[in-house]
This record gives sequence, C-alpha cells and structure tokens, in this order.
Amino acid sequence: MPDTIVALLPTTPICPITGATSPAAAPPRPEAPAPAPAFDVAEAEEFLRLYYAEHPAAGPAGPRIAQVRAEIGRTGTYRHTDLELAFGARVAWRNSARCIGRLYWRSMQVRDLRHVRRASDVAAECVEHLRLATNGGRLRPLITIFAPDAPGRPGPRIWNEQLIRYAGHTSGDTVVGDPRYVGFTSTVRSMGWAAPATPGRFDVLPLVVETATDGPVLSEIPRDVLVEVPLSHPDLAWFADLGLRWHAVPAISNMRLRIGGIDYPAAPFNGWYMGTEIGARNLADHDRYDLLRPVAERLGMDCSTDRTLWRDRALVELNRAVLHSFELAGVTISDHHTESQRFLQHLGKEERAGRSCPADWSWIVPPMSSSQTPVFHRYYDEADQLPGFVVDADTVSRGLTGAPAAFPDAVGAGRIPLPPRRARWYRRLRP
Ligand code: ARG
Repeated sequence: MPDTIVALLPTTPICPITGATSPAAAPPRPEAPAPAPAFDVAEAEEFLRLYYAEHPAAGPAGPRIAQVRAEIGRTGTYRHTDLELAFGARVAWRNSARCIGRLYWRSMQVRDLRHVRRASDVAAECVEHLRLATNGGRLRPLITIFAPDAPGRPGPRIWNEQLIRYAGHTSGDTVVGDPRYVGFTSTVRSMGWAAPATPGRFDVLPLVVETATDGPVLSEIPRDVLVEVPLSHPDLAWFADLGLRWHAVPAISNMRLRIGGIDYPAAPFNGWYMGTEIGARNLADHDRYDLLRPVAERLGMDCSTDRTLWRDRALVELNRAVLHSFELAGVTISDHHTESQRFLQHLGKEERAGRSCPADWSWIVPPMSSSQTPVFHRYYDEADQLPGFVVDADTVSRGLTGAPAAFPDAVGAGRIPLPPRRARWYRRLRP
C-alpha cells in the first residue's frame, strides 16, 4: 500500500490544487493577529457533502452544513468531528495522484493530536509516530494530525521533508551523505546541530519544528525508534562491504493536509517503501547517492560505453539487494510489479464506486522496468481533487534548505542561531 510517492521530486511552486501561494508568506503574528483570510465556505460544504454521501447511515448533510456555516460565521473557522477528520485524511491519501500505493487508503490509522501545539511536544509526538508506524518492522500506514491553522493562530510547521532523512555534508567539492540535504544540513548546523565528529554517509538529521510562539526548535530522533536496514545481496557476497543502508519508514512531514477548507500544516504520514524508491532513486540518482558506477565496477562491467548497459545491470542488482535486505530484516517493503498490480486493482474499485481516481503517469510508473508493469500501458485522469496533501514554494524550500522560516517574527525566533547553552543541550541528546 504505501507509496505516497507524493512528496519528493517535482517542486511545485504553487499549490497545484488550490492555486494558493504560501500561507507562510504572510504569517499572522502572535502579538498582532492579521485579519483572518476569508474562509472558503464552499470548500467546507463540498467536503461535508462528500462525507455524508459516503456515510449514508449518518443521515442528511443539511443540518451539519448549517451548523458549520454558523460556526464559520462566528469564529472564522470550524472544527472537524473525529470522524470527519479521519475520513478527510484517508480521502486526502485516496486523492494523491502521485501515489501508486493507494489500494489500502481506508486502512490508514489516524492519530488526532489537534490539541498539540508546542514545538517540543510536536517533536516528541513525531517520535511516537515513528515508533507506532515502525511497529517492530510490520509497518503500519499512519498519520498524525497536529493543530490546524486558525485565524490569528497558525498551526505548527515541520521543516523536514521526511521525519527520517540523511544529512549531506560538504567536504571540499564532494558530498558525504545525501546531496539532496546539503542545504538543510548546513542550516541546521548553523542552528546548533551537533553533527557527528566524523561526517558519515547515513547521519540522521534532527527534526526542526517551528511554531509562531516557539520559533524553530531542533530535536534528535532517539536511536531506539530509528530502524534502519543494512543492505546485502542474495548472491553477491561483496555487496555488504559497500556499507549501504536505508531507513525503514518513509514518513512525509512537510505536506499540508487540506480538508474542507481547513489547513493542517503539520500532519506527518507514512506507508511503506516500494523497493525502487530506494534502489532506483535514492541510491541510484545522479544527484543523490549515485551508486550505479561503483556497483557496476564491482560487477566487473565495462563502464567505458553506455552500450554495455552497465547502469541497467547495476540497477537490477541494487534493487535486488534492497528487497532482499528488507525482507531479511523483517521490514515491510513491496516491489514495483506487485504494487503496480495493486494500483490497477485500486483503479477498478474506485471506478466501481463511481469515483474518478486522479493519477499522474510520470509518478505512478515505476522508475525501472516500466514497460513490464501494467501501469505503464494506459492513461489516467489527472484532475486534482480535495481533500488532499499539498505543498507550496516555501514549504518545499524549507524542506531542502531550512529557509525561509514560517514565522520570522516569532517570539522564539531568536533561537537561530541557538544560544550556546541550547546547543550543548542538543549535543547531550545526541544518541
Ligand atoms: N520516495 C520517497 C523516499 O524514497 C518516499 C515517498 C513516500 N513513499 C512511500 N512509500 N510512502 O524517501
């Protein structure tokens, strides 16, 4: 089920769904709340109609819509019921056009943490999210929803693209670690993150949670919740000597969950990995770990010409290693053939339910052996739908570079760079 392959690649400067620019661009200040932006009542109503249409036993939508209209009139926003929240989150996944793993959208567990607002509490609950999601290797699709944006009261922000990501350390012209996070790594270092004395290829970045009152706060992911899989190969003994590994849980943490006109800016969610995300992208892309040449060389291939297909063969062996190692470690993972079949099953189900299923071919089709998967050989409906997970330009930029801050005028924003005492405190917390 997994792959909310939503997040990482294309950076959408403007929300593809609502066309909105970043709400963070003009954040309400805590001391002088900006006038509330007009609430999109029509979006609220459309969501409630969807909820009642898909829950016939709940009766007619009318009374609830009237109630919500009145609440918006009074307060400038409204509060989802527990059931609406869980349904909205699941439908946001169902609508994720880039995700091949949506067959199990109904099964996502929802943690309602709308009352959690302080940065340190949000960080602690992100750690708890990882513990619950990892579930000893039997990964559980899970979303944790923190406080929504409300007039004059913005919700918390998580800067990191994912709860677990590896640092990219620059050393001269080369990068040790994940080149994607070079900017983020240097920003968190300047904020007081105590990187390991010897930079490693797989150093887990700290979480950065920002609120309008606390400013950005750094915290480490404790070792004991961090499950990683060391990579070995089913037949190539030397493969393990490459010293590669990857983390078990892909947990996207910087997409805004939008349900019925309400934004939940911090709502980390996870499924499980499809092997190619690691083996054909994270470890293989030129601008990521770029490992195909070293693997091909160890395979004894002639890399002097493209025509030996050394890249292609290395790609297959790397991906075999990923699937083999996760299985060996007892960590849930799926392969692109299985996941493609499941996706078509999902499309069939959605069609029978009378719904159109938005899908983006360029994201759905796996990055290797594409024509061998059934998802390659067809077209899809592309229209975006809400509820959904969205990103805006500032969010994307924060995830990659650690800037701009969402609340530059926050009371606690003076914590960049961290006072030395705090920096020491982080160092002590390092696992
Ligand atoms: N492709 C991203 C990564 O490799 C993860 C995106 C979400 N994937 C998932 N299976 N839920 O880190």
